[in-house]
Amino acid sequence: MATLAEIAAQAAGCTRCDLASTRTQVVFGVGDPKASLMIVGEAPGKDEDERGEPFVGRSGRLLDQVIQEELGITRARLYITNVVKSRPPGNRDPLPNEIAACNPWLEAQLELIAPKVVITLGNFATKVLLFGTPAAKQGITKLRGQSYPWRNGSVLVPTFHPAAVLRSGGGQPLAQMRADFIRAKQALAAAGAAP
Ligand code: URA
Repeated sequence: MATLAEIAAQAAGCTRCDLASTRTQVVFGVGDPKASLMIVGEAPGKDEDERGEPFVGRSGRLLDQVIQEELGITRARLYITNVVKSRPPGNRDPLPNEIAACNPWLEAQLELIAPKVVITLGNFATKVLLFGTPAAKQGITKLRGQSYPWRNGSVLVPTFHPAAVLRSGGGQPLAQMRADFIRAKQALAAAGAAP
């Protein structure tokens, strides 16, 4: 089986969708290839497209803060990626065909890292990873606030996207996002995995 670094090298030249012609670079993922916790966002924005790393703009700063304050670790200890690895122009929503084209990369990451707990940020990541289950029909506001047994003994914890939390000005959505991260920490402890 290929390593994560080998898959990342393959993905760097990916032309499976039209985003290949507008992106600066593929933003594959960052962190510990053996992480027990994986965080999945939507798609790279301008900052991520320039730097080649997920969540390095405003949303990323909020994400790093919540990771530090609720889990007590830095991003190097977990693995962070997105459903779509190339920036959609103008930060528009990723299209269904782009999500489908990129899905094999995400599935390869999930298989190789085999996280015990996955936090999905926002509607897109949550719907993609709960695809085929009854919960996938619900929006993030309904789905967040609980853990979902997922695939082979893992746990999925959906929460708000940090960009949505920033748009709301913090407040209740931020408190709920923090509570979801604590939920993920508890799920890790229950699985015998330190974050
Ligand atoms: N928003 C995302 O969903 N992913 C990023 O990497 C940055 C912003």
